[in-house]
Amino acid sequence: MHLVLIGAPASGKGTQANRLTRHFALDHISTGEMLRAQEARRSELGLVVESYLKHGRLVPDNLVIRLVRERLADNAMANGFIMDGFPRTLSQARAFDEVLEEIDQSLDAVLLIDVPDSAVLERITGRRADPETGRIYHLKFSPPPPEILHRLEQRDDDTEEVMRARLATYHERIDPVIAHYRGQGLLFRVDGTPPPEAVFQEILRVLAPLVPGG
Ligand code: AP5
Repeated sequence: MHLVLIGAPASGKGTQANRLTRHFALDHISTGEMLRAQEARRSELGLVVESYLKHGRLVPDNLVIRLVRERLADNAMANGFIMDGFPRTLSQARAFDEVLEEIDQSLDAVLLIDVPDSAVLERITGRRADPETGRIYHLKFSPPPPEILHRLEQRDDDTEEVMRARLATYHERIDPVIAHYRGQGLLFRVDGTPPPEAVFQEILRVLAPLVPGG
């Protein structure tokens, strides 16, 4: 199974990718996570990407495409992958088509998680991540167990100001990506406003015809 998850910042891509990864034993590839890992390592690339992340701007296509290409070349991907937050521009989508062709793979579905801007702003301020398990919580919508509260982290770009920039960037660039995958017959829109478990069940329903025996 080869899936792509697209959607606004805080639409629930990471939350659903984690569930799908466990359910189908997929490799979860998040370009946001890969970029934050470079930043934390203070690698040469990390120093370049830092200012983009801080201001909610997209990292240049060539850098992101290079990371994805390396990651896919590195990995056996026994059961497939789920791309979380990539592609975000038409040029990334076209480059991704080429990479997939090179490794003799193709996509099964592109899931667009649709959430209005008003909802994502509320989600972002309450988001917390557990560095030990990678799980994503929300103080109100997906409360963490009290005993792990002390170790939860908030992302540097989860401020209202940066979030508005991330949202604006998303709306500027995503329509051609959606049109690209709609043209390939791969696009499925999923309502991301119900609670996480309901969104997950809807995704499983959409994917059922693609799953052997589903
Ligand atoms: P990235 O890390 O991908 O951030 P993003 O796209 O802004 O998405 P988020 O991770 O913020 O949100 P999400 O949709 O995963 O939501 P989540 O499940 O956490 O990218 C960060 C930055 O890296 C970008 O700004 C850019 O600079 C750069 N970058 C990354 N990819 C790039 C690319 N391809 N090209 C160029 N630059 C790139 O949920 C959010 C919160 O809501 C959580 O608290 C969660 O518990 C809660 N929640 C989730 N689902 C629900 C629900 N159904 N109901 C209620 N609450 C919910």
